[in-house]
Amino acid sequence: MLLPQDVIRKKRDGLALTASEIRFFVDGATSGTVSEGQIGAFTMAVYLRGMTIEEIADFTLAMRDSGRVLDWNGAAVDPTRLIDKHSSGGVGDEKITLLVVPLAAACGVWVPNLSGRGLDYCAGEVDMLDAVPGYDTAPPHALFIRAVEEVGGAIIGPTLDLAPADRKIFYVRDVTATVESVPLITGSILSKKLASSPRGLVITVGSGSGAYMKTLDDARRLARSMAEVAARVGVPSVMLLSDLSCVLGTSVGNAVAVKETVDFLVGRRRDARVLDLVLSIVAEMVVLAGIEPDLGRARGLAAAKLEDGSAADRFGRMVRALGGPNDFVERAKDYLPAAPFVRPVGAESTGFVVDMDAGAIGHALVELGGGRKHPEEKIDLSVGITEIAPVGAPVSQERPLCVIHARDEADFDRASREIRSAMRVAPTSSGAARPIVIEKIVQSV
Ligand code: URA
Repeated sequence: MLLPQDVIRKKRDGLALTASEIRFFVDGATSGTVSEGQIGAFTMAVYLRGMTIEEIADFTLAMRDSGRVLDWNGAAVDPTRLIDKHSSGGVGDEKITLLVVPLAAACGVWVPNLSGRGLDYCAGEVDMLDAVPGYDTAPPHALFIRAVEEVGGAIIGPTLDLAPADRKIFYVRDVTATVESVPLITGSILSKKLASSPRGLVITVGSGSGAYMKTLDDARRLARSMAEVAARVGVPSVMLLSDLSCVLGTSVGNAVAVKETVDFLVGRRRDARVLDLVLSIVAEMVVLAGIEPDLGRARGLAAAKLEDGSAADRFGRMVRALGGPNDFVERAKDYLPAAPFVRPVGAESTGFVVDMDAGAIGHALVELGGGRKHPEEKIDLSVGITEIAPVGAPVSQERPLCVIHARDEADFDRASREIRSAMRVAPTSSGAARPIVIEKIVQSV
């Protein structure tokens, strides 16, 4: 009889696992016959030993099949225009999904989006949406389908129904230093994506201090792994390699990042790199869906739907369809939880931000209570960091590095020390941050 420890031992010793061994382990993780300790040992063995592309594909499909795979036959959607997006994760990147899904829906794409919670030092879409009162991030399957039909797109997390194996394994990876692994990220992302049966995928793969992949070469390896596994199951994809050497946008956290999202959608404030990335992703989705023939026209359509308020309208409808307030977009500030201790962090010297360790800023969020240190830990959705000065910005005692939203003064002091050492200030500017999209990989089937 096969035991979980046999599978762990084989991987620990660097041997390739068969499809049935992988399925046995993933099924056990889902049903609970494999313990959290065993999941931790398995993910560490995979982290250290890697997997062949066949193993990665088997792992992904076993994770996808741990739950229901959506069937859109009979649903009121155009199945040829079902295109999803995802990100391999990055500090500040999680808000991109909340912008892309409603904007793509406004352009005529159908987007059933299964996202994740915060992982290690990166916040996650599902935790962000938990900050919206009433929003159900794990709705019954029929409600999710209805929300997509009514709105054109909806964002939820893995449920008991959809990719439940990822839900189990994700929490353990989060707290066992086993996030930054090409096979584990491929399985985690693609199992969620393939469970909603899209016809095409756009995935951003970040590299730099704020991403799991620190180098562009590692990001390329991850992108190729995901593109190849998706192609094996007949799903064409576009991988956009992004520069995450600094925080994306102006805030990190949950409630505060939802606020940044709403401000962006209604046009109150739009960070230039966020705008470029959002339009790039939506343009690829529009072309994959066959709505426009080329990227220039697709980007024009996306920009118009953002400007005319259609994306903000879709976001509001999505919130409503999944149980949130009717007037969330109009009154987001009144609904979102707010931290009691909010203070700016002045720079110790006058100059310009020339570099930042975005991962360390993500860690500061975890220390504030906005990310997890133990599986299933409850996080504080109100804490966060806002007004983060971008690379190239002038800073001083009066022009702060950022604003911290903390539970108390002690948390504020600890986080401000971490942030000061994470942001490098020099007397002269070295210019603005690099363009957000570095290159792309297109994979047909
Ligand atoms: N996003 C996911 O959904 N899973 C990962 O492992 C990393 C980023």
